[in-house]
Formats: sequence, C-alpha cells, structure tokens
Amino acid sequence: MALNLGDQFPNFNADTTIGKIDFYQWVGSSWAIIFSHPADFTPVCTTELSAVARLVPEFAKRNVKPIALSCDSVETHKQWITDIKAYGKLDSFDYPIIDDEKRELAVKLNMLDKDEIGAAGLPLTCRAVFVVDHNKKLRLSLLYPATTGRNFVEILRVIDSMQLTDKKKVATPADWIQGQECMVQPSVKEEELVSLFPTVTNVELPSGKQYLRKTTV
Ligand code: BEZ
Repeated sequence: MALNLGDQFPNFNADTTIGKIDFYQWVGSSWAIIFSHPADFTPVCTTELSAVARLVPEFAKRNVKPIALSCDSVETHKQWITDIKAYGKLDSFDYPIIDDEKRELAVKLNMLDKDEIGAAGLPLTCRAVFVVDHNKKLRLSLLYPATTGRNFVEILRVIDSMQLTDKKKVATPADWIQGQECMVQPSVKEEELVSLFPTVTNVELPSGKQYLRKTTV
C-alpha cells in the first residue's frame, strides 16, 4: 500500500519485544515514529537503534513514541538488544521492536527493498521512516537505502516543525531549529499579520515581491 502524506495510517497487530500490540491502542493519543531495518545483527541498524534509544527522552518531550521493525523474530530482537545497549553504552532500551519475520507488515506498509536480499533469499526492508500524528495521519515518510544510516536528530527537527506549524501559520526555513525565526505562511494576508504575529520583517529581494516574511513565535 503506497501511503501519501495526510493518509490515515493503517492499524495493525504485531508481536513485539514488549508483547503483542494493536498499533492504534499502543499509540493512544501520542504521535509515533515507525522505522524499519533490513535485519537484526547488522552494523548500521545497530548504530541506528542505539541512536534512537538515546533519543527516547527527546521523543517523549514531543509526545512521540518510537517503534522499530526488523524482518526477524522477537527472540532474535531480544538478543540483539543486548548488543545495541552495549554498543551505545545504554542502561536501558525503552521502545519496542516489531517481529516481521514473515514480512507481512513490511508488505502492507510498502517497506521492502527489492534490491536488498537477505540470507534466506527474501527481500529485506529498506530504512523506512513514518511519522504518524495523534489523529493517526501519516505526516512524514522517508525511504533510505540499506547502506545509509538515518539521522534521527533531523527527524526530531521535522517533528518540531510539524508540531509548531500545526499551531501557528508559519513555515520553517532551511536548517531551522526550535526557537529560531520562521516564515509567515504565504496564505496569510497582510491585514492578518498584526493580529497573528508580534513582529514581522519583510526581507527585501530583487523581485521587489514581499513574500519572504520572517517572524518569531
Ligand atoms: C547494516 O545495517 O549495516 C546493513 C544492512 C543491510 C545491508 C547493508 C548494511
């Protein structure tokens, strides 16, 4: 199933390292980040799962629950967590990993990479990332190749932007981080500016068009 931004994210049941879950019930009123891995005991994945474990408090501050998926069993996931904790020098590992040994969820969510074949001759999952909001809508979708590890700090940055722009009529510029100036959305009319923003600075551009309006929120 190809999912577009804004689509209802499908519910699913899965066996995970914290037991069986119904995804919607597990997410509750939080947001979620679901990210997939080609296989257990693979080097790049080990660094990624460790990075997310370290960032769990940052996701929690944003009311986001992480959940990983790998095409292996809960039993091997649990053995792998010992390595992940050792690699990251972590005391705990506080989010679930989904068992998708049969690739049913990977197929449902369109996560398989046809060019990445595992030892058993079956396609593995790519490095997919989905961010799902409290209404179970898909808000972010990324597909990375198996050979490139992801930057989860960047994903936190995008979540900050999405949660801000849900509340205010702003958009965030290149490399923006929380607290920095952002842009007034193009749809905001001049006459609305005073009531919506404390200050607005128009950036002068050669075109003379006043479309690059900076503000603080
Ligand atoms: C890794 O996690 O290191 C990896 C997995 C599959 C292919 C290439 C790298």
